[in-house]
Amino acid sequence: MPEQDITQNQEELLEKLQQQLSEVRQTGLDLLRTLQDEEGLQQWRSNFLMRRAVITEIMRNLSNLPPEMRPVIGQAANKVKKELEARLKERFAEVKQAALTHSLNSERLDVTLPGRKPQHGGLHPETEVLREIYQIFAEMGFQVYRSRDVETDEYNFELLNIPAHHPARDMWDTFFTTKEGVVLRTHTSPGQIRVMREFAPDPIRVILPGMCYRYEQISARSEIQFHQVELLVVGRNITFGDLKGTLNDFVRRLFGREVRTRLRPNHFPFTEPSAEMDVECFICGGEGCPVCKRSGWLEILGCGMVHPTVLKNGGYDPEVYSGFAAGMGPERINMLRHKIEDIRYFWANDVRFLEQF
Ligand code: PHE
Repeated sequence: MPEQDITQNQEELLEKLQQQLSEVRQTGLDLLRTLQDEEGLQQWRSNFLMRRAVITEIMRNLSNLPPEMRPVIGQAANKVKKELEARLKERFAEVKQAALTHSLNSERLDVTLPGRKPQHGGLHPETEVLREIYQIFAEMGFQVYRSRDVETDEYNFELLNIPAHHPARDMWDTFFTTKEGVVLRTHTSPGQIRVMREFAPDPIRVILPGMCYRYEQISARSEIQFHQVELLVVGRNITFGDLKGTLNDFVRRLFGREVRTRLRPNHFPFTEPSAEMDVECFICGGEGCPVCKRSGWLEILGCGMVHPTVLKNGGYDPEVYSGFAAGMGPERINMLRHKIEDIRYFWANDVRFLEQF
Protein backbone atom coordinates (compact mmCIF):
# COMPACT_ATOMS: atom_id res chain seq x y z
CA MET A 1 0.00 0.00 0.00
CA PRO A 2 1.49 3.37 -0.95
CA GLU A 3 2.65 5.66 1.81
CA GLN A 4 0.10 8.27 0.79
CA ASP A 5 -2.79 5.82 1.23
CA ILE A 6 -1.56 4.66 4.58
CA THR A 7 -1.54 8.19 5.92
CA GLN A 8 -4.88 8.76 4.34
CA ASN A 9 -6.30 5.65 6.02
CA GLN A 10 -4.84 6.52 9.35
CA GLU A 11 -6.40 9.94 9.28
CA GLU A 12 -9.75 8.49 8.40
CA LEU A 13 -9.42 5.98 11.21
CA LEU A 14 -8.41 8.67 13.65
CA GLU A 15 -11.34 10.80 12.65
CA LYS A 16 -13.67 7.85 12.86
CA LEU A 17 -12.55 6.97 16.36
CA GLN A 18 -12.76 10.55 17.54
CA GLN A 19 -16.19 10.81 16.00
CA GLN A 20 -17.22 7.63 17.85
CA LEU A 21 -15.92 8.94 21.12
CA SER A 22 -17.72 12.23 20.75
CA GLU A 23 -20.96 10.47 19.89
CA VAL A 24 -20.67 8.15 22.83
CA ARG A 25 -19.99 11.08 25.07
CA GLN A 26 -23.00 12.99 23.79
CA THR A 27 -25.51 10.12 23.92
CA GLY A 28 -24.15 9.11 27.28
CA LEU A 29 -24.59 12.53 28.81
CA ASP A 30 -28.01 13.06 27.22
CA LEU A 31 -29.29 9.75 28.44
CA LEU A 32 -27.78 10.21 31.86
CA ARG A 33 -29.75 13.39 32.39
CA THR A 34 -33.04 11.58 31.86
CA LEU A 35 -32.42 8.78 34.34
CA GLN A 36 -34.17 9.13 37.69
CA ASP A 37 -33.37 6.02 39.69
CA GLU A 38 -30.40 3.97 40.79
CA GLU A 39 -31.42 1.01 38.74
CA GLY A 40 -31.34 3.10 35.56
CA LEU A 41 -27.95 4.49 36.53
CA GLN A 42 -26.49 1.01 37.09
CA GLN A 43 -27.76 -0.04 33.69
CA TRP A 44 -26.27 3.08 32.17
CA ARG A 45 -22.92 2.34 33.78
CA SER A 46 -22.78 -1.08 32.28
CA ASN A 47 -23.72 0.31 28.83
CA PHE A 48 -21.25 3.17 28.79
CA LEU A 49 -18.37 2.28 31.07
CA MET A 50 -18.11 -1.45 31.55
CA ARG A 51 -16.76 -4.36 29.60
CA ARG A 52 -18.87 -4.12 26.50
CA ALA A 53 -19.03 -0.37 26.30
CA VAL A 54 -17.74 1.43 23.21
CA ILE A 55 -15.06 3.26 25.16
CA THR A 56 -13.79 0.07 26.69
CA GLU A 57 -13.70 -1.47 23.27
CA ILE A 58 -11.68 1.39 21.89
CA MET A 59 -9.24 1.26 24.75
CA ARG A 60 -8.85 -2.44 24.49
CA ASN A 61 -7.96 -2.15 20.84
CA LEU A 62 -5.39 0.61 21.31
CA SER A 63 -2.55 -1.82 20.78
CA ASN A 64 -3.85 -2.60 17.31
CA LEU A 65 -3.50 1.04 16.28
CA PRO A 66 -0.43 2.55 14.71
CA PRO A 67 1.90 3.66 17.50
CA GLU A 68 1.64 7.37 16.86
CA MET A 69 -2.16 7.24 17.12
CA ARG A 70 -2.22 5.39 20.40
CA PRO A 71 -1.59 8.32 22.77
CA VAL A 72 -4.02 10.55 20.90
CA ILE A 73 -6.91 8.12 21.01
CA GLY A 74 -5.89 6.81 24.40
CA GLN A 75 -6.01 10.24 25.94
CA ALA A 76 -9.23 11.18 24.19
CA ALA A 77 -10.93 7.99 25.32
CA ASN A 78 -9.65 8.44 28.81
CA LYS A 79 -10.94 11.96 28.97
CA VAL A 80 -14.41 10.93 27.86
CA LYS A 81 -14.39 8.07 30.30
CA LYS A 82 -13.38 10.33 33.21
CA GLU A 83 -16.07 12.80 32.29
CA LEU A 84 -18.77 10.16 32.07
CA GLU A 85 -17.67 8.67 35.35
CA ALA A 86 -17.73 12.03 37.06
CA ARG A 87 -21.19 12.83 35.73
CA LEU A 88 -22.45 9.41 36.77
CA LYS A 89 -21.20 9.97 40.28
CA GLU A 90 -23.03 13.29 40.41
CA ARG A 91 -26.22 11.72 39.10
CA PHE A 92 -26.03 9.00 41.72
CA ALA A 93 -25.81 11.64 44.40
CA GLU A 94 -28.65 13.63 42.90
CA VAL A 95 -30.95 10.63 42.56
CA LYS A 96 -30.23 9.58 46.11
CA GLN A 97 -30.98 13.05 47.42
CA ALA A 98 -34.20 13.22 45.39
CA ALA A 99 -35.34 9.88 46.78
CA LEU A 100 -34.61 11.02 50.30
CA THR A 101 -36.46 14.29 49.83
CA HIS A 102 -39.38 12.42 48.34
CA SER A 103 -39.63 9.97 51.21
CA LEU A 104 -39.21 12.73 53.76
CA ASN A 105 -42.05 14.65 52.19
CA SER A 106 -44.39 11.73 51.71
CA GLU A 107 -43.79 10.20 55.11
CA ARG A 108 -43.66 13.44 56.97
CA LEU A 109 -45.08 13.29 60.48
CA ASP A 110 -46.26 16.57 61.88
CA VAL A 111 -45.79 16.12 65.59
CA THR A 112 -47.42 19.47 66.27
CA LEU A 113 -50.80 18.29 64.92
CA PRO A 114 -53.27 17.79 67.76
CA GLY A 115 -53.90 14.09 68.33
CA ARG A 116 -57.26 12.41 68.03
CA LYS A 117 -58.93 12.33 71.41
CA PRO A 118 -59.71 8.80 72.57
CA GLN A 119 -63.33 8.18 73.51
CA HIS A 120 -63.40 7.90 77.26
CA GLY A 121 -66.11 6.17 79.16
CA GLY A 122 -66.91 7.51 82.59
CA LEU A 123 -68.43 6.27 85.78
CA HIS A 124 -72.18 6.48 86.03
CA PRO A 125 -73.09 9.31 88.43
CA GLU A 126 -74.82 6.76 90.62
CA THR A 127 -71.71 4.57 90.80
CA GLU A 128 -69.76 7.65 91.78
CA VAL A 129 -72.00 8.63 94.66
CA LEU A 130 -72.31 5.03 95.86
CA ARG A 131 -68.55 4.67 95.98
CA GLU A 132 -68.29 7.88 97.94
CA ILE A 133 -70.83 6.62 100.42
CA TYR A 134 -68.99 3.30 100.79
CA GLN A 135 -65.75 5.18 101.29
CA ILE A 136 -67.13 7.38 104.05
CA PHE A 137 -68.68 4.49 105.93
CA ALA A 138 -65.57 2.38 105.46
CA GLU A 139 -63.61 5.14 107.16
CA MET A 140 -66.12 4.98 109.99
CA GLY A 141 -65.61 1.23 110.35
CA PHE A 142 -68.65 -0.11 108.50
CA GLN A 143 -68.61 -3.32 106.47
CA VAL A 144 -70.59 -3.73 103.26
CA TYR A 145 -73.19 -6.49 103.37
CA ARG A 146 -74.95 -7.56 100.18
CA SER A 147 -78.45 -8.84 100.54
CA ARG A 148 -80.79 -10.25 97.90
CA ASP A 149 -83.04 -8.30 95.49
CA VAL A 150 -85.73 -10.98 95.47
CA GLU A 151 -87.14 -11.35 98.94
CA THR A 152 -89.82 -13.19 100.77
CA ASP A 153 -92.82 -11.39 102.15
CA GLU A 154 -91.60 -12.59 105.55
CA TYR A 155 -88.30 -10.72 105.41
CA ASN A 156 -89.54 -7.71 103.48
CA PHE A 157 -92.47 -7.16 105.86
CA GLU A 158 -93.35 -9.58 108.63
CA LEU A 159 -90.02 -9.83 110.40
CA LEU A 160 -89.82 -6.05 110.19
CA ASN A 161 -92.91 -5.78 112.31
CA ILE A 162 -95.31 -5.24 109.41
CA PRO A 163 -97.89 -8.05 109.61
CA ALA A 164 -100.09 -8.98 106.67
CA HIS A 165 -103.00 -6.61 106.14
CA HIS A 166 -101.38 -4.02 108.36
CA PRO A 167 -102.14 -0.55 106.96
CA ALA A 168 -98.42 0.30 107.16
CA ARG A 169 -97.91 -1.90 104.10
CA ASP A 170 -99.36 0.90 102.04
CA MET A 171 -96.07 2.73 102.52
CA TRP A 172 -94.52 0.36 100.00
CA ASP A 173 -96.19 -0.37 96.67
CA THR A 174 -94.95 -3.86 96.09
CA PHE A 175 -94.04 -5.91 93.02
CA PHE A 176 -95.35 -9.39 93.76
CA THR A 177 -94.03 -12.32 91.79
CA THR A 178 -96.11 -15.20 90.47
CA LYS A 179 -94.73 -17.26 93.33
CA GLU A 180 -96.76 -16.89 96.51
CA GLY A 181 -94.91 -14.95 99.21
CA VAL A 182 -92.03 -13.85 96.96
CA VAL A 183 -91.60 -10.16 96.22
CA LEU A 184 -89.01 -7.77 94.85
CA ARG A 185 -87.65 -5.99 97.90
CA THR A 186 -89.25 -2.61 98.38
CA HIS A 187 -86.43 -1.42 100.61
CA THR A 188 -83.06 -2.67 101.85
CA SER A 189 -84.39 -3.17 105.40
CA PRO A 190 -85.02 -6.95 105.04
CA GLY A 191 -81.23 -7.19 104.88
CA GLN A 192 -81.23 -6.11 108.54
CA ILE A 193 -82.78 -9.41 109.57
CA ARG A 194 -80.37 -11.38 107.40
CA VAL A 195 -77.32 -9.66 108.89
CA MET A 196 -78.60 -10.06 112.45
CA ARG A 197 -79.33 -13.74 111.96
CA GLU A 198 -75.86 -14.23 110.59
CA PHE A 199 -73.98 -12.12 113.18
CA ALA A 200 -75.96 -12.72 116.41
CA PRO A 201 -74.91 -12.26 119.14
CA ASP A 202 -71.90 -10.27 117.87
CA PRO A 203 -72.01 -6.51 117.46
CA ILE A 204 -72.94 -5.25 113.99
CA ARG A 205 -71.79 -2.25 112.03
CA VAL A 206 -72.72 -2.63 108.35
CA ILE A 207 -74.13 -0.83 105.35
CA LEU A 208 -76.42 -2.67 102.96
CA PRO A 209 -76.50 -1.10 99.52
CA GLY A 210 -78.69 -2.31 96.69
CA MET A 211 -81.48 -1.84 94.21
CA CYS A 212 -85.07 -1.63 95.46
CA TYR A 213 -88.30 -1.94 93.50
CA ARG A 214 -91.67 -0.29 93.90
CA TYR A 215 -94.80 -0.57 91.84
CA GLU A 216 -95.27 3.15 91.47
CA GLN A 217 -96.36 5.65 88.91
CA ILE A 218 -93.08 6.74 87.34
CA SER A 219 -92.58 10.48 87.62
CA ALA A 220 -89.86 13.07 87.96
CA ARG A 221 -89.60 12.19 91.66
CA SER A 222 -90.19 8.45 91.72
CA GLU A 223 -88.89 5.49 89.74
CA ILE A 224 -89.91 1.84 89.95
CA GLN A 225 -86.30 0.96 90.71
CA PHE A 226 -83.78 2.92 92.75
CA HIS A 227 -80.92 2.36 95.16
CA GLN A 228 -80.97 2.44 98.89
CA VAL A 229 -78.10 2.28 101.31
CA GLU A 230 -79.22 0.81 104.61
CA LEU A 231 -77.28 1.32 107.82
CA LEU A 232 -77.39 -1.05 110.74
CA VAL A 233 -75.59 -0.85 114.05
CA VAL A 234 -76.32 -3.30 116.87
CA GLY A 235 -74.51 -3.55 120.17
CA ARG A 236 -74.85 -3.36 123.92
CA ASN A 237 -75.15 0.35 124.52
CA ILE A 238 -76.23 1.90 121.25
CA THR A 239 -78.21 5.10 121.81
CA PHE A 240 -80.11 7.65 119.80
CA GLY A 241 -77.08 9.90 120.34
CA ASP A 242 -74.99 7.38 118.37
CA LEU A 243 -77.51 7.49 115.56
CA LYS A 244 -77.49 11.25 115.45
CA GLY A 245 -73.72 11.56 115.71
CA THR A 246 -73.06 8.95 113.02
CA LEU A 247 -75.54 10.42 110.57
CA ASN A 248 -74.39 14.00 111.14
CA ASP A 249 -70.81 12.96 110.65
CA PHE A 250 -71.73 11.15 107.44
CA VAL A 251 -73.66 14.11 106.03
CA ARG A 252 -70.84 16.52 106.80
CA ARG A 253 -68.26 14.25 105.19
CA LEU A 254 -70.44 13.93 102.11
CA PHE A 255 -71.69 17.49 101.68
CA GLY A 256 -69.15 19.53 103.61
CA ARG A 257 -68.54 20.81 107.12
CA GLU A 258 -70.96 23.73 107.02
CA VAL A 259 -74.13 21.90 106.06
CA ARG A 260 -76.85 21.92 108.73
CA THR A 261 -79.11 18.94 109.45
CA ARG A 262 -82.23 18.28 111.44
CA LEU A 263 -84.14 15.22 112.61
CA ARG A 264 -87.91 15.20 112.26
CA PRO A 265 -90.10 12.66 114.11
CA ASN A 266 -91.64 10.11 111.81
CA HIS A 267 -92.95 6.57 111.92
CA PHE A 268 -91.57 3.28 110.63
CA PRO A 269 -92.89 -0.03 111.98
CA PHE A 270 -89.36 -1.44 112.39
CA THR A 271 -87.84 1.44 114.35
CA GLU A 272 -88.90 3.13 117.56
CA PRO A 273 -88.50 6.04 117.87
CA SER A 274 -88.27 6.89 114.17
CA ALA A 275 -87.18 10.01 112.40
CA GLU A 276 -86.28 11.49 109.06
CA MET A 277 -83.15 13.51 108.48
CA ASP A 278 -83.23 16.70 106.49
CA VAL A 279 -80.30 18.72 105.20
CA GLU A 280 -80.35 22.40 104.56
CA CYS A 281 -81.44 23.10 100.97
CA PHE A 282 -78.37 23.53 98.75
CA ILE A 283 -80.18 25.63 96.23
CA CYS A 284 -81.45 28.41 98.46
CA GLY A 285 -79.25 27.86 101.51
CA GLY A 286 -82.28 27.45 103.74
CA GLU A 287 -84.25 30.49 102.66
CA GLY A 288 -86.95 28.53 100.84
CA CYS A 289 -87.23 27.83 97.11
CA PRO A 290 -89.28 25.64 94.72
CA VAL A 291 -86.87 22.69 95.06
CA CYS A 292 -87.29 22.44 98.84
CA LYS A 293 -90.94 23.44 98.49
CA ARG A 294 -90.18 26.67 100.37
CA SER A 295 -89.27 24.80 103.55
CA GLY A 296 -85.50 25.38 103.34
CA TRP A 297 -84.93 21.66 104.09
CA LEU A 298 -84.50 18.53 101.97
CA GLU A 299 -85.24 15.02 103.21
CA ILE A 300 -82.43 12.52 102.60
CA LEU A 301 -83.07 9.50 104.82
CA GLY A 302 -85.29 7.63 107.24
CA CYS A 303 -83.89 6.30 110.50
CA GLY A 304 -84.59 5.18 114.05
CA MET A 305 -83.72 2.84 116.91
CA VAL A 306 -84.20 -0.77 115.90
CA HIS A 307 -87.59 -1.92 117.20
CA PRO A 308 -87.36 -4.56 120.01
CA THR A 309 -89.48 -6.93 117.96
CA VAL A 310 -87.04 -6.64 115.05
CA LEU A 311 -84.06 -7.22 117.34
CA LYS A 312 -85.78 -10.30 118.68
CA ASN A 313 -86.56 -11.53 115.13
CA GLY A 314 -82.89 -11.11 114.31
CA GLY A 315 -81.79 -13.15 117.33
CA TYR A 316 -80.79 -10.36 119.73
CA ASP A 317 -82.28 -9.97 123.21
CA PRO A 318 -83.77 -6.44 123.25
CA GLU A 319 -83.21 -6.32 127.02
CA VAL A 320 -79.46 -6.54 126.41
CA TYR A 321 -78.93 -5.19 122.91
CA SER A 322 -79.99 -2.05 121.15
CA GLY A 323 -79.28 -0.64 117.73
CA PHE A 324 -80.05 1.98 115.17
CA ALA A 325 -80.85 1.76 111.48
CA ALA A 326 -81.20 4.18 108.62
CA GLY A 327 -82.08 4.02 104.95
CA MET A 328 -81.05 6.62 102.43
CA GLY A 329 -81.71 7.16 98.75
CA PRO A 330 -78.46 7.83 96.86
CA GLU A 331 -80.31 9.03 93.76
CA ARG A 332 -81.94 11.64 95.95
CA ILE A 333 -78.56 12.74 97.25
CA ASN A 334 -77.23 12.80 93.70
CA MET A 335 -80.13 14.93 92.48
CA LEU A 336 -79.47 17.47 95.19
CA ARG A 337 -75.78 17.51 94.59
CA HIS A 338 -75.89 17.86 90.79
CA LYS A 339 -79.22 19.73 90.65
CA ILE A 340 -80.77 16.96 88.54
CA GLU A 341 -84.47 17.68 88.34
CA ASP A 342 -85.77 14.32 87.11
CA ILE A 343 -84.97 10.91 88.64
CA ARG A 344 -85.81 9.17 85.35
CA TYR A 345 -82.50 10.29 83.86
CA PHE A 346 -80.64 7.79 86.03
CA TRP A 347 -81.84 4.64 84.33
CA ALA A 348 -82.78 6.02 80.92
CA ASN A 349 -79.23 5.37 79.64
CA ASP A 350 -79.20 8.54 77.60
CA VAL A 351 -75.56 9.31 76.86
CA ARG A 352 -76.31 13.02 76.60
CA PHE A 353 -77.08 12.88 80.31
CA LEU A 354 -74.30 10.46 81.24
CA GLU A 355 -71.62 12.39 79.37
CA GLN A 356 -72.08 15.34 81.68
CA PHE A 357 -70.38 13.50 84.52
N1 PHE B 1 -86.77 1.20 104.86
C1 PHE B 1 -87.24 2.55 105.01
C2 PHE B 1 -87.84 3.02 103.68
O1 PHE B 1 -87.68 2.38 102.71
C3 PHE B 1 -86.16 3.47 105.45
C4 PHE B 1 -85.64 3.17 106.81
C5 PHE B 1 -84.58 2.31 106.96
C6 PHE B 1 -86.19 3.74 107.93
C7 PHE B 1 -84.11 2.02 108.24
C8 PHE B 1 -85.72 3.49 109.19
C9 PHE B 1 -84.67 2.63 109.37
O2 PHE B 1 -88.48 4.04 103.62
